[in-house]
Amino acid sequence: MENKKPFLKVEHLKQYFKLGKRELPAVDDVNFEIYKGEVFGLVGESGCGKTTTGRTIIRLYDATGGSVYFDGKRIVAGVRNYKDAIKKAKFDLKVKLGELKKQYADNLKDENYKAEVDKAVKVCNEVIAFNIEEIKKARFDHRHCNREFGRFEAKKVDDKYLPLIEAENNPVKKAELVKEYKKHRRLALKDRIMNRIQMIFQDPIASLDPRMTVKDIIAEGLVIRGIKDKKYIDEKVYEVLEMVGLVQEHATRYPHEFSGGQRQRIGIARAIILKPDMIIADEPISALDVSIQAQVINLLNDLREKMGLTIMFIAHDLSVVKYFSDRIAVMYYGKIVELTTSEELFKHPLHPYTKSLLSAIPLPDPRYEKKRKRITYNPLSAHDYTKEKPTMREVAHGHFVYCNTAEFDKYQKEIIAIDAKGKQ
Ligand SMILES: Nc1ncnc2c1ncn2[C@@H]1O[C@H](COP(=O)(O)OP(=O)(O)O)[C@@H](O)[C@H]1O
Ligand SMILES: [Mg+2]
Repeated sequence: MENKKPFLKVEHLKQYFKLGKRELPAVDDVNFEIYKGEVFGLVGESGCGKTTTGRTIIRLYDATGGSVYFDGKRIVAGVRNYKDAIKKAKFDLKVKLGELKKQYADNLKDENYKAEVDKAVKVCNEVIAFNIEEIKKARFDHRHCNREFGRFEAKKVDDKYLPLIEAENNPVKKAELVKEYKKHRRLALKDRIMNRIQMIFQDPIASLDPRMTVKDIIAEGLVIRGIKDKKYIDEKVYEVLEMVGLVQEHATRYPHEFSGGQRQRIGIARAIILKPDMIIADEPISALDVSIQAQVINLLNDLREKMGLTIMFIAHDLSVVKYFSDRIAVMYYGKIVELTTSEELFKHPLHPYTKSLLSAIPLPDPRYEKKRKRITYNPLSAHDYTKEKPTMREVAHGHFVYCNTAEFDKYQKEIIAIDAKGKQ
């Protein structure tokens, strides 16, 4: 996987909510990449920022800082990180000037002093100019990424139809082609990159408008895209209903007439009608009976194969994502603390928070259940970050843990110890 280009790239993403004068860092400098066709699990306890991450990616919220790239194009661009860089440069300059003043206190007319001051000011101005440029770019991308995408898609239609029209000698056929070309081009211009990513919400009751029929709920995306052809809309709705295991007759009913599992199927139908490339599934089974959870997982798996979907799967416990995900990111209070393949995470869990999540998974083995001890995670006693702050580090190939140098060394030894024990 690692040689592939990321399909979705989340970079230094920040989502801070205003709480009076303070701010709540719900998502705090989050970085990850998702590859095409992959199921990427995002796991962590309630309130750690999973939903906010998903909602910020699809721009239900404006990001405070950082970027998200989708299929190579920037779709989310916050400016806080650049503003902070400017603040820091100004602060650094102030400190530097203070130091120089002290150093040359005897002779502030010294040529070297002036030269050093000029140099410091220049460095600061360069940082400021660079970041102002980045802020402009971010604002531009934020405003234009959707329309740019429409133009990009329209260009594809041009490339396909214009040579055909040019080569057609029969005037009747030529006129037909032109008509078809214009129709496709018009639709393409309305194409929005944000339609390529759809979200399935945790609560299938709250996320479906009770006054709308199933058909209207599912067709909403098509209607917003400007499609008016009733017959076409019906056909598409019936097609996706069938894909999610419902039937045509369901189309005229209302959400409250359905069970929780069926409602989630309606939510999935709504998400796939625009043939997205990616689905963000936000705890899609948490609100469902255990007996139907597996059905919904199987449905998502089927759709992933049939439609070539890439999935970001959000869950609050590891047992759900274990078999479904290729890679898993563990989130704790707005930060990713561990990220690796599903297999590696269960074989070599390293961050104490990951271990605590693992200890919460019940197993169908009664002997194990008797021995199972819940490990609680207390960040204050688990880490000593007084000497060195943690950063995301690659402890083993493709295995990232949020740690400092001392922990990094400890974790590497831990992997060796686990493997040695496994061989005995
Ligand atoms: N719209 C909002 N305004 C203010 N705070 C919010 C908002 N949405 C979520 N939060 C807070 O952000 C944190 C993360 O929430 P959320 O992303 O919903 O977590 P999760 O999905 O992991 O349970 C929580 O402390 C929550 O209270
Ligand atoms: Mg949530």
